[in-house]
Amino acid sequence: MVPLIDLSRRLKANADAFAVATQQVLDSGTVLLGSQTDQFEKLFASFAGAKYGIAVSSGASALQLSLAALGIGPGDEVIVPAMTAVPTASAVCAVGARPVIVDIDDETAGLDLDFAEQAMTERTQAVIAVHLYGRPVDNLDKLTKLGVKVVEDCAQSHGATKGLTGSIGAYSFYPTKNLGGIGDGGMVVTDDPDVAERLSRLRVHGQSEQYVHIEVSQNHRMSEIEAAWLNIVLTQLEIGNQRRRDIVNRYQLANPNIRWQATHSNHVYHLAVALTANRDDFRQAMLKHDISTGIHYPLALTQQPALQQFVSHACPVAEKWASECVSLPCFPELTDGEVDDVCAVLVEIDQ
Ligand SMILES: Cc1ncc(COP(=O)(O)O)c(C=O)c1O
Repeated sequence: MVPLIDLSRRLKANADAFAVATQQVLDSGTVLLGSQTDQFEKLFASFAGAKYGIAVSSGASALQLSLAALGIGPGDEVIVPAMTAVPTASAVCAVGARPVIVDIDDETAGLDLDFAEQAMTERTQAVIAVHLYGRPVDNLDKLTKLGVKVVEDCAQSHGATKGLTGSIGAYSFYPTKNLGGIGDGGMVVTDDPDVAERLSRLRVHGQSEQYVHIEVSQNHRMSEIEAAWLNIVLTQLEIGNQRRRDIVNRYQLANPNIRWQATHSNHVYHLAVALTANRDDFRQAMLKHDISTGIHYPLALTQQPALQQFVSHACPVAEKWASECVSLPCFPELTDGEVDDVCAVLVEIDQ
C-alpha cells in the first residue's frame, strides 16, 4: 500500500539522534522552558525570517495567543477563510471574538482578498490568512494597508514564507506537518518586542515574574523533549520541502489535464491536492492500485455544525472545493518507486 503519510519512517530515521537528545534533557534536570526550547525558538524564528519566536503547546495555542497578544477579544470580528482546518476559526472564539467566514479563491484555495475586504465592518480587528496546503497567500499587504491586523496561519506552510507580511505568524508542529513534532507543539513569530514579551507571559498563565500574574491566561508551554526533537528535524526541513516539490512536480507532469491547486514558486506542498468532479471514482481508481488518498477537507467552515452561528456570507467556492478536493501521498520519505506507482495511475485518469 502507498500510504497517504507514514510517520514511522521519519521517527525511525531519527531515533538514535533523539535518544541522545532525550538523555541530554534528562541529565539537565529541566523538562520545561530550558535550553532546548531556547535553541529551537532562535533557530525557528531565524528560519521563518522573524525576530522573535515563542514556542507554545500547539498550533491552536499559537493562533489563540497571537490574537490575544494583538489585543483581540470580545466585541471584535476576525475574518477567516471558509476552507481551512476548524482550529483557525475556533481560536477566534477562544479569545471571545466572532469569526466572520468568507469565501476563497477558486484557483489557490487561499483567502480571497476582495471577499475579505467586502466583509469588513467597524468591528473588524483582524484577518487570518491561511497558507493552505503550503501555498502562500500573496499581497497580504493590501489588507494591512486597510488598517486591520493580519495573522498568518502558517500551520501548513513551514518555509513557504520568509519574514512576515502580516502582523504575526502562528505555526503548528502537529506530527504530520512539514515540521512535525514528537507530540503537539506550536510557535508564534513576531518582529515586535512588546508583542513577544506579552506572548512569553500569555503562555505561562499571564505570569510576569514568579507568582505574579498581570493578566489572565492559561498554560500553553512546549516541553523540552518536544523542542529537542524539533531541533533535530528542523535541520531536514528544507530538503524535505524540496522533495515534496519534486514529488508534486512529477504528479502534475504525469497528468497535466487534472485540475491541481494553483502552483507557486514558494509552495511547500504540505498536501498535494487535485480537484475532481468524480472524487469517488478517482479515489477508487487509486485504491484499486493500493494507493491511499485523503480529503482536506470534506466540509467548508460554513458547513461545520459547530460554526453555524457564525455563517453570515455564502461561500459557494469553498463548498465546491470541499466536494471535489482529493489529497495524494506527499511526504519526503515516499520512495521513488511509490511515486512511480502513483504516477502510473494518474496517467490513466481521464478528466
Ligand atoms: C490550517 C491549520 N490551522 C491550525 C491548526 C491547528 O494546529 P494544532 O493541531 O497543532 O493545534 C492546524 C492543524 O490541524 C491547521 O492545519
